Amino acid sequence: MPGLYETLMNAIPELTAFDLRPLTGSLGADIVGINLLTASDEEIAQVQTALDHCHVLAIRDQNLDPAGFHKVARRFGPFSGNMIHRPLEGFEDIVRFTRNPEDRGPVVGEDFHMDLAWMEIPPGITMLYGEEIPPVGGDTLFASLSAAYEGLSDTMRNLILNLIGVHSGKGVFAINASNTALSVKASGQAVEEIETEHPLVCRHPVTGRPYLYLSGVLQRFVGMTEEESKPIIDFLISHALRGEYTCRLRWEPRTLTMWANPYLMHAAINDYHGHRRVVLRSTVAGSPPIAAGAGDQENGSTTFRKGNFRKSRSRE
Ligand SMILES: [Fe+2]
Repeated sequence: MPGLYETLMNAIPELTAFDLRPLTGSLGADIVGINLLTASDEEIAQVQTALDHCHVLAIRDQNLDPAGFHKVARRFGPFSGNMIHRPLEGFEDIVRFTRNPEDRGPVVGEDFHMDLAWMEIPPGITMLYGEEIPPVGGDTLFASLSAAYEGLSDTMRNLILNLIGVHSGKGVFAINASNTALSVKASGQAVEEIETEHPLVCRHPVTGRPYLYLSGVLQRFVGMTEEESKPIIDFLISHALRGEYTCRLRWEPRTLTMWANPYLMHAAINDYHGHRRVVLRSTVAGSPPIAAGAGDQENGSTTFRKGNFRKSRSRE
């Protein structure tokens, strides 16, 4: 019986452009041996394939200034847009997040969340590049929403299959505006009024692998009250954050981390007081989330036509 790690590795096509070292059995990989600025288009396509399967990649030893980061980000697709943060001068698609040694209080994104989940089409990829990294601390946590789905019982999968989640931008602008290290756009206030519906159970457009579209701003399900929805949301999020569905990424200077934003939740760790941390961020446009739909009924459980994950871990 293959474990999570073997299932993940068996699903990844052969990759020759770099050395890939998985972080855990569920998601995440370190990548060494590739220069994203000078890599061929074929090599960049292999990075994208690794991302489709591993969901988060820490690509080590890049050497990028903002212009170089801009070039690398755009090799993976057009900018998704950013309604909230004021960009770096000269680069519409880059934000610089700085945390100074004397800064106290929350860091940006320290609660588990999906980036911009309330957008009609959330970013497909978020990229961060480490300009200044503390000697220790400031790791990032990730939780696979595909592995979380696969860990649900068949009955629970069938129960939630057709739910539509309502994701709200309420409070998002206020949190960002209250952080003195961030520069926000005044027009970002409009985010507070946004409510967007996304299917709860979706499928990855390339691998066909099902996942839970969860976020920290999921308010309720269509046709249900908040009181009715909350126990289901609370259960699914606590389930998704079980240790076996997560990885913890350690940063180094010149690490470029990219994650396949809709297929995981992530959180920043606020444990490096007294140190400076500076990262550049860009995002890549994604595609509309695809409802997994009823799928095939096979052996009493819901399975899916595409991809390599036709059976759940619990059934093998
Ligand atoms: Fe984030």
